[in-house]
Amino acid sequence: MMSLSSKKDLPIGIFDSGIGGLTVLKALRQQLPHEHFLYLGDTARLPYGTKSPDTVKNYALNANEILAQQVKMLVIACNTATAVALEALQERFFPIPVVGVIEPGAQAALNEPNPGPVVVLATEGTVKGHAYRQVLARLSPQTPVIEWPCSLLVAIAEEGWCHGYLVEEIITKLLAPLRLQLGEQKPSCVVLGCTHFPVLKEPMQKIWGDIPVLDPAYRVAQEVTALLKQQDLERQSHDEATIHFMATDGIERFARVAQIFLGHPIAQHCVELVSVPAYESRARQEINSRTAASK
Ligand code: DGL
Repeated sequence: MMSLSSKKDLPIGIFDSGIGGLTVLKALRQQLPHEHFLYLGDTARLPYGTKSPDTVKNYALNANEILAQQVKMLVIACNTATAVALEALQERFFPIPVVGVIEPGAQAALNEPNPGPVVVLATEGTVKGHAYRQVLARLSPQTPVIEWPCSLLVAIAEEGWCHGYLVEEIITKLLAPLRLQLGEQKPSCVVLGCTHFPVLKEPMQKIWGDIPVLDPAYRVAQEVTALLKQQDLERQSHDEATIHFMATDGIERFARVAQIFLGHPIAQHCVELVSVPAYESRARQEINSRTAASK
């Protein structure tokens, strides 16, 4: 059996459908500079945000098998996967602690003192499942919530398009019906409820003016820090910490765009190509048997 000290030395696993989770990794590294990190982007099956909950759940369960063998904690740095699969992931990988991003995002919103509804910008999948509405209803039942789908922004972020006139135009167009719906009502804040969106914070903030645009990553990092302490899992050594990247496809592209997200270059040899076996048959079997049972 592994000793506690070698367990403490294991990396923290970070999972996303693509490179969006790097916005969470950035916050985690700032907060926990002595921890090792192991990042997995399921780039072969991105985007998750437009797929069915069953498919996302199965993708997330399968992909995290790779991480779970090597880490002391899992951070699901993907709102869409958190929305549909957090409980299933916690169950499957117990006793490894599994942290999601939605509850910290909701808490960040509730920290804002302004009146008005909380606006959540997220993928279609996260919005359809009303994950933010449910968590906010539990934490603060009187807070109104408006969830708005912006799946297209995932593709823009994956391209590394973070600034400029065209990006602002696209965001303005996507948000026009929401602004119309809001009318004179001023939101208390805008939550970036997809981990790809913080790289678009600058154009977002320009569009929302003085309304706070929130990246929940910092809250996620606080929660991870607290949990490491609580479970006595903090790395003791202050030797240099490492980050290893894995992706299920397009490692050259991953390395190229990741540097935009992280703010420093990543050599392509630092990104390992991994495959997630056995998804197809297991996921299809589960979906087919459920469909058959409901007929
Ligand atoms: N980064 C993921 C999220 O936070 C979604 C991206 C995707 O659609 O795959 O929801």
